[in-house]
Amino acid sequence: MVTKILIIFSLCLLGVLSQNSYVASNIQWSNNGLTATVNYPGNPAQPVVANLLLNVTFETPQRIRFKLTDSTTARWEVPDIVIPPSAPVTIKQAQYTVKVNSSPFGLTITRNSNGQVIFNLDPTQVFQYNNQDIILLNNLNYATNFYGIGERVTNFPILPGVYTIFSRDAAGPYDDGQPPGSNMYSNQPFYLALDSEGNSHGGFFLNSNAMDVFITSTSIKFRTVGGVIDFFVFVGPDPEDVITQYHQLVGNPVLIPYWGLGWNHCRWGYNNLTALQWAYNGYISNNIPIDIMWTDIDYMIGYQDFTLDPTRYPYDEFQDFIDTLHEAGRRFVPITDAAIAQTNYFAYNTGLTQNVYIGSANHPGALVGQVWPGNAVYIDWFHPNATGYWHSMMSQLRQVMEFDGFWCDMNEPSNFCNGECGYPEHYNNLPYTPGQTDLNTKTIDLAGTHYGGLIEYNVHSLYGMHMAINSASFFTDVLNTRPFVITRSSFAGLGRSASKWLGDNFSQFNWMAYSIPGVFNFNMFGIPLIGADICGFNDDTTPELCSRWFQLGTLYPFARQHNTKEAISQEPWMMGPTLLETATWAIRVRYSLINYYYYLMFSVSLNGGVVFKPAFFEYPGDANLQDVHSSDNFMVGSALIVHPVLTQGATNVTAYFPSDLWYNWYNGLPISLPYNRTIVLNAPLRGLVNIHMRGGYIIPRADDHPTAMTIQELRYSTITLVVALDAEGVASGGLALDDGLSVNTISSGNYTLMTYMYKQVSSKQGILSFTSSNHKYTKAAGEYPGVSNVVIYGCQSQISAVTVNGVSVMDNQQFDGTGNVCSAEIVGVHPDDITQLNFSF
Ligand code: NOJ
Repeated sequence: MVTKILIIFSLCLLGVLSQNSYVASNIQWSNNGLTATVNYPGNPAQPVVANLLLNVTFETPQRIRFKLTDSTTARWEVPDIVIPPSAPVTIKQAQYTVKVNSSPFGLTITRNSNGQVIFNLDPTQVFQYNNQDIILLNNLNYATNFYGIGERVTNFPILPGVYTIFSRDAAGPYDDGQPPGSNMYSNQPFYLALDSEGNSHGGFFLNSNAMDVFITSTSIKFRTVGGVIDFFVFVGPDPEDVITQYHQLVGNPVLIPYWGLGWNHCRWGYNNLTALQWAYNGYISNNIPIDIMWTDIDYMIGYQDFTLDPTRYPYDEFQDFIDTLHEAGRRFVPITDAAIAQTNYFAYNTGLTQNVYIGSANHPGALVGQVWPGNAVYIDWFHPNATGYWHSMMSQLRQVMEFDGFWCDMNEPSNFCNGECGYPEHYNNLPYTPGQTDLNTKTIDLAGTHYGGLIEYNVHSLYGMHMAINSASFFTDVLNTRPFVITRSSFAGLGRSASKWLGDNFSQFNWMAYSIPGVFNFNMFGIPLIGADICGFNDDTTPELCSRWFQLGTLYPFARQHNTKEAISQEPWMMGPTLLETATWAIRVRYSLINYYYYLMFSVSLNGGVVFKPAFFEYPGDANLQDVHSSDNFMVGSALIVHPVLTQGATNVTAYFPSDLWYNWYNGLPISLPYNRTIVLNAPLRGLVNIHMRGGYIIPRADDHPTAMTIQELRYSTITLVVALDAEGVASGGLALDDGLSVNTISSGNYTLMTYMYKQVSSKQGILSFTSSNHKYTKAAGEYPGVSNVVIYGCQSQISAVTVNGVSVMDNQQFDGTGNVCSAEIVGVHPDDITQLNFSF
């Protein structure tokens, strides 16, 4: 039962009315929420929206939504594309309680399990609902860390300050909230709140207008210039709970193609096919694995989208090149920019005929901005012709360049003028300006007109999401394959269709470190396939930085090297033997873990959640992981913790470990921790990044990782089950098998999930069981040949036998008594027939 409590009392304290003059009345409770009128008494001056309707909906037992809309005039609301509408349901056993305060108006949401307030529209504090200046404060009144609120480059947790949300083509700078205005590409108005005892809750402000977010140690306040208040609260109580509750709302991450987890190579400035081929051949001749080759805007004629310049990228040779990639199981991804060149060519002309451009008072048919090609026009994604237009352009490009994925750039949307080039700006004199920076900065005129009477002012930050979704649907709907679409700008909910990279960064050690919170945040936002430009984009990298970045970055879910055209070459073979070795090893470490990464990606597509995460997600009560060690380490899934080197000149890392058993991933040696669980780990430059495996987990390591040249080959590799025992001698893990490509894999159930469980029954006996759920996937010939070896970390004695139904299946056992690592080769049984391996010691 939802607890309904209505507190009606008056807080007629002097001064209070000036901050919050609204009064709630006519409060009507129902089975799944309540409604009330919320009015500003008297006849307030014009900007005040005086008559509000409050609508509180208990959407799930862990999620509650409240909306405050103008009851007299319709206001802009974020379209359904962000949150698909769902039918109301009656909630049983809601885990929250709502209270409404009538005068002044207030609203409190409490988590039932521990009585903690998780949202407090405090009647004694500011609340404002003016036409272009809405203020919503969540005054928690207790110390809380906040994480999320993207996109920006910032501390983890977010430091007290003011943080702007509005899509802008801006590479940083580092944003500590003082002053505001360092907003970047995406709009992600979601936060995770975490108190020192590990209690978490979340909040999501569904609003697409420009806003500032004011963070203190005890509160979070939103100040937006339009739309309505449409707010969701998630009860948690663990961080991972909050995130899955959020993903349940915005949609679980799209299942990406298996190949999308491979190693990506890109740079701006491969001016012709010879240069691109040189890069590819560099990988092959240096024996470095490579999965996906990219091209930047260099391939186009005069930077016109959907063109291919045959003088620099001759059609036939280019297609031969792409064929070579495909034959080897590799893939090819080109860039496309948000704006269409305003020149006399097919893409521009077709768009004009089909009416798909954003208009303006100056140019009703197509508002004009400026990007790489010079004058350019922008797609009105709200126009009914827009999707068809975009798909047809992608089809035409694919006829001359058989791409497998798509890179959506400059889609904030970017403009090299502020507003419409050569014309006065609009909306540059607002009652309140988020970020204290003209909102037209580096983008198109905010008075731009869209289909259906919409204005750019409201829909601006949805451009990137629309572009990415429409690109993704080309893969799913036209090509009938999974989308691998990497965008720069995003909005909440993007992750159920597409993926992202962190945009332009700098070749500096601190920027490498900032990438960790960036990747955390987008995992929370529901876009797990995320990574930063490895070695750095702007400025020249160094062999040391690039090596360190390879060690870290090959563990991002999306692992791509990229570089600006002005910077020196940073291909793995171009900076001497240290980089060559470290980069190759780093890619091979990723390859060893590829089954684990795919299993994690598959799991979040099924259930929501994060892949690359802060360790406090696994250890919410460990206060050391919330601030001091929040982002000098990261976890991949629940099983691995990584301590990368993030500073120049370092040859070791001071590593903090949460309370558990940890083993070196590479050799199984356990680490012994002092009282403060902090130790110094060796981290030579010419070496492998420090990865430790948590006791209690099993990872299926791909046996061919030292030799494979693509992850496609690893689908045909046997696996070694690496079993890391916890203090009870127990461990478990999984593997997801599917064709790696089908669009409807999850809905059709055409996959197999393997679960491995090990239990040390006694000092003499252990059992490793194999179970599969949903075993619907029929493997292709030779695919996933199964288990070749079992390695046990934390093993107390030598394995004397491994049997299946009493028959020996063991060969070549080994035992390292110092490190307590034992292993056995499994022979004489078809791996698919194993349901249980019995170990004797
Ligand atoms: C900006 C993108 O962020 C960058 O990655 C790309 O190389 C350039 N545009 C050129 O296309």
